[in-house]
Amino acid sequence: MNGQQIELVLPAGQTLAVHCLGTGQPVVLVHGFPLDATIWRKQFQALVDGGYQVIAPNLRGFGNSSPIDGPLTVGDLAEDIEQVRRVLAPDQTITLVGLSLGGYVAFEYWRRYANRLRGLVLTNTKPHADTQEAKQSRIAMGERALQETTWEAVSPMLSRLLSNTTLAQDPETTDWIKHMMSAVRPTTINGIQVAMAGRHDFTAELPGIHTPTFVITGEHDPISPPAENKLWTAQIPGATLEVIPGAAHLPQVESSEHFNRTLLSFLKRY
Ligand code: MLT
Repeated sequence: MNGQQIELVLPAGQTLAVHCLGTGQPVVLVHGFPLDATIWRKQFQALVDGGYQVIAPNLRGFGNSSPIDGPLTVGDLAEDIEQVRRVLAPDQTITLVGLSLGGYVAFEYWRRYANRLRGLVLTNTKPHADTQEAKQSRIAMGERALQETTWEAVSPMLSRLLSNTTLAQDPETTDWIKHMMSAVRPTTINGIQVAMAGRHDFTAELPGIHTPTFVITGEHDPISPPAENKLWTAQIPGATLEVIPGAAHLPQVESSEHFNRTLLSFLKRY
């Protein structure tokens, strides 16, 4: 069940394809890289059944949203989320759930629109910016996607997104994720890697986050490891961390029941 997909036109004319389901308090789900909004498909029904309005946009360049047509920043993606809120949840506050890249977007949204946030769920993400080396490898991946194919560029990420158990024992999930990664346009791989390389460092701003915040990661996530999450979660007033056993970078896929239970228990508290 992926719900109704609506086409939302941004002020500069690009369109975003947004999955919309249910009614109730709005929960906006922002996907990671190199994925799309259907990465949340195991959350859709659980959130609708819990009494929430689910809004899951494909960020610019992903899924059926418009291709990236020029230089883009993570802040631009946060502005797109605000456009989505204005159209689909006018006069309401939202809970913003950001997975990895989606978490970088969520930090930017908080910086600009904290008063429109009811809650923040930061999953498998981090507040800090890239090292010089990480920036260079992003630029190299972007160039490789443009010169070769998306899959040539992104395939080394697969074993970082999924746990060894999933890779060895769950061919259906592995193929689903591979297919989703391969379908991303090369121009998106390049444009988003450049945007992520230039993202703001929020480390010093964590003590100023007064939005109720919940942090989630996977026990085996090499991109957003539990030990690192513990340190930065402690900097956000009142924030709590849940580490999902057995999962890597995509606990909402690999341990969806645990993920949904913990997400719903946070949502019900606020
Ligand atoms: C993601 O899942 O969005 C990416 O791993 C983020 C990143 O490359 O930093």
